[in-house]
Amino acid sequence: MQKVLVTGGCGYIGSHTIVDLIKNGFEVISVDNHLNSDRKPLSGIRKITGKTVKNYKVDLSDRTRTRKIFKENPDIVGIIHFAALKSVGDSVNQPLFYFRNNMLSTLNLLECAHEFGVKNFIFSSSCSVYGNSKELPVTETTELQEAESPYARTKQMGEHMIHDVAKEAKKTNFILLRYFNPCGAHESATLGESPTTKAQNLVPVITETAIGKRKSMTVFGDDYDTRDGSCIRDYIHVMDLADAHTKSLQYLLKKKNKQQVETYNLGIGDGVTVLEAINAFEKTSGKKLNYKIGPRRAGDVVAIYANFDAANKNLGWSPKRDINDIMKTAWEWEMKRSK
Ligand code: NAD
Ligand code: WQD
Repeated sequence: MQKVLVTGGCGYIGSHTIVDLIKNGFEVISVDNHLNSDRKPLSGIRKITGKTVKNYKVDLSDRTRTRKIFKENPDIVGIIHFAALKSVGDSVNQPLFYFRNNMLSTLNLLECAHEFGVKNFIFSSSCSVYGNSKELPVTETTELQEAESPYARTKQMGEHMIHDVAKEAKKTNFILLRYFNPCGAHESATLGESPTTKAQNLVPVITETAIGKRKSMTVFGDDYDTRDGSCIRDYIHVMDLADAHTKSLQYLLKKKNKQQVETYNLGIGDGVTVLEAINAFEKTSGKKLNYKIGPRRAGDVVAIYANFDAANKNLGWSPKRDINDIMKTAWEWEMKRSK
């Protein structure tokens, strides 16, 4: 079995990806210091797959301890690097913490990939690298605008670092995956998103409101120039994202890549408004949501959604789930975890 190192394997997207990797015959080891997670996803993974995943509780910004993992595992064929801090708002208040954590982790991993000869490297990037994009849908060649937050800058800088490092680390091939708005949960309701701090993203805010953890929620603005006045985003199911990682790794292992660094957008390619998302939730759950219309949220772009043709053409990937599947699985997960 080919061994893959997943960083941030106890986090939201990492844990779902591990399930898909195991299903596709990979052996997985994880590194996660639980900066934004706990050990529960490891038992969720075990329940779904029957496999126990070893997690190294190591801070990736610690170079010595990170190198030790590679010394102990000389047979790693690929790295999927999810580990990062990801809150846009927190990054504005704590830029030093964000830069230290996200940049040092990525740097240490890149050094290890080079030193230990790991040939395949997949990096979690984000639609936030596009900033306030001037064209829609965004393609991988859409010009990147100024980062709107230190978090987004860590993703832009991570991408730039990889492009530069690739010139020296010639034996390693890289894929940069730019996710749009990841949401939803594993269909078994055994894994899902478990924010350790107060949820800020739309889908967990909706499910937390419906279950009663919040009295009500606010739609941030209904006076935008969109079909119903609320913002448009590209909500992508986490299991579709997981599939894209497995396919990216298989693509690199089969040496199908044409360039040493390739970049792919991962979204459903269609925009959904906030009010449409709420409507989809009410329809799939049968529950009326207590929401009110409030002012616009600072920093929100009006609309952003992906063109994913490149991932479709090269990786053979396309999303299989829509906003209804997202709401159904997110709701089932919320009901189960709130018990
Ligand atoms: P998450 O917070 O659920 O998972 C990240 C995991 O990394 C956590 O378990 C955390 O404990 C771990 N981690 C963080 N810093 C670490 C360090 N220094 N050493 C070891 N472990 C560390 O986040 P997620 O939603 O699963 O996101 C995964 C990746 O995808 C991140 O890089 C994120 O920036 C990116 N991304 C996420 C979204 C989103 O909306 N969820 C969108 C676009 C991109
Ligand atoms: C979606 C829409 C809100 C909460 C963020 C990051 C981005 C990427 C994905 C990491 C917006 C509206 C939300 C609420 C609302 N992450 N909303 N009421 O801001 O598109 O993207 O996650 O890389 O970098 O910025 O996601 O889920 O916060 O918001 O009306 O209580 O829902 O205004 O239009 P966002 P979100």
